[in-house]
Amino acid sequence: MDELRELYQQLILDHNQNPRNFREIENYDFHKKGYNPLCGDQLEIFINIKDDIISELSFTGMGCAISKASASIMTETLTGKSLSEANLLFKQFREMAMNGKITDGLPLKLSVLSGIYKYPSRVKCALLAWHTMHQSFDTQNIVDAKTE
Ligand code: FES
Repeated sequence: MDELRELYQQLILDHNQNPRNFREIENYDFHKKGYNPLCGDQLEIFINIKDDIISELSFTGMGCAISKASASIMTETLTGKSLSEANLLFKQFREMAMNGKITDGLPLKLSVLSGIYKYPSRVKCALLAWHTMHQSFDTQNIVDAKTE
């Protein structure tokens, strides 16, 4: 168990130090700014959709190691997924982050953050990118993003 915990910590460190898809997409379809009211950290999510599939997903911004690693892992996991799959994974990840429950079908790489529910103040860090991504699917937000 200690080995597994160490592996998870290494993966979180790696994603924090070398975040995947840490960039702005120029001609995005969806865009949303997210904000953690507990610490003031912010990030932005950029999404391109092709035929209902997330073809590109990226993020920028400042945050703690947990928020950055979670955003990085999210972009890797959801690229190539349909919007309905992304919606389901959002719900599964949120359930895991808040209650530690790992549901069937949750990709293994997301479980590196399965212990975060034990630290309530960090749950918002882990969910920041996910909530921002999920809110960007709202139709009104798409309209807002295009007119910003
Ligand atoms: Fe700000 Fe984690 S402390 S997002």
